[in-house]
Amino acid sequence: MPIAAILFDAYGTLLDIHAAMATHQARIGPRAAEISALWRQKQLEYTWTLTLAQDYRPFDTVTAEALDFALAQHGIDDAALRADLLATYRVLPPFPEVVGALATLRRKGLRLGVLSNGTGTMLDAAFAAAGLEEMLDPILSVDTLRIYKPDPRVYAMATNALALAPSEIGFVSSNAWDAMGAARFGFHVFSLRRRPDPVEYDLNSRATLIAHLGEIAATLGQ
Ligand code: LAC
Repeated sequence: MPIAAILFDAYGTLLDIHAAMATHQARIGPRAAEISALWRQKQLEYTWTLTLAQDYRPFDTVTAEALDFALAQHGIDDAALRADLLATYRVLPPFPEVVGALATLRRKGLRLGVLSNGTGTMLDAAFAAAGLEEMLDPILSVDTLRIYKPDPRVYAMATNALALAPSEIGFVSSNAWDAMGAARFGFHVFSLRRRPDPVEYDLNSRATLIAHLGEIAATLGQ
């Protein structure tokens, strides 16, 4: 069946998660990139451990707790910096190719949406700030389920919302573990490789590997 809709992961796929730390780099110093990577690693770890423990805390809470760990690990105790980092995280910029790639896919008649761990409030604010809200419908949040990716119930929420079979849905993520979950669920997955990390989760056979979002339209051939 041809793909009728494409859903995008938000953080790291459409939105540049490391822009928050980069914006405030002058106040943090040369460790900013390392702290940003730890922030992201802890944020994701908390989503997985919460879901395994059958517990839930919303993504903005998880994000703040992960930042607290990352700053403390690096001996930084600065309430104003913490507040500014979290404020910037709410309005992360899209990666440079996002607007053009989405516009091309829309011209092909595809419905475009988001399926993200972010809360609805976080996602609406970020995509409004990025000027992308007109292009993305639906913007689906795990917050309505209170379960994080890659639990299959998250991907099932999207098939229900779109009233499409999994095979009619394209799913794009720069998070390999998210791409794995979506492929296992039956979506046609585009594994976005913004960095040339080793391929994991058998994604070379389970997904279409792309280096940037502009490649999706060409691989669809429809
Ligand atoms: C999201 C995280 C996983 O947007 O990046 O769902």
